[in-house]
Amino acid sequence: MLKIAVLVSGGGTNLQAIIDSIASGKITNTEISVVISNNPNAYALERAKKAGIATEILVPKTFESRDAFNAKLLETIQSYNVGAIILAGCLLTIPDMLIQCYPEKIINIHPSLIPAFCGKNYYGLKVHEGVLRRGCKVTGATVHFVDCGLDTGPIILQKAVMVEKDDTPEKLQRRVMEQAEWELLPAAINLMANGKLKVVNGYVQIEE
Ligand code: GRF
Repeated sequence: MLKIAVLVSGGGTNLQAIIDSIASGKITNTEISVVISNNPNAYALERAKKAGIATEILVPKTFESRDAFNAKLLETIQSYNVGAIILAGCLLTIPDMLIQCYPEKIINIHPSLIPAFCGKNYYGLKVHEGVLRRGCKVTGATVHFVDCGLDTGPIILQKAVMVEKDDTPEKLQRRVMEQAEWELLPAAINLMANGKLKVVNGYVQIEE
């Protein structure tokens, strides 16, 4: 059984997709041990509580330094004995020491087709604003392993989503979530939990 920690910052629709997929059997062999939020007001915390999942709130600015916050984050995650960490709409910068402790065990969902619209200027709605500004006809989402770069880790799954004529960043964000994110993230977790993901020379191989 793969025990996972899910890190969130906001509404938690991706968390909900994971919870629902475990309940329906789309994700097997997996248990959410804890949901951790850097935002005390994140609705994701309510979703976790409703599902009977333990929650932790760690707010960086309440610590005396970033290092102190990072140490507490690592300690908290380790205390739950998890085998993987899922970043589900998590806006925290993940510290290198955490990444080094969980090599190829941290998964992120990004709302674009990486390598388009990723890196430090592109998070949340900014991704979709960029897509519309550039006049792209297609966008999508990417699930990838987290390495020490920003959105640079090995790509696990991607799915394209069409841009429509009257899209706003908000409408596009919603369609990317509905058509890609809520499907890809649970699918990637299921593959990982069932030993189907292998990273070879920096590329992900998926076992049939
Ligand atoms: C999603 O687009 C996610 O990719 C992004 O934040 C959005 C909201 O996610 N980083 P959620 O509803 O909190 O899961």
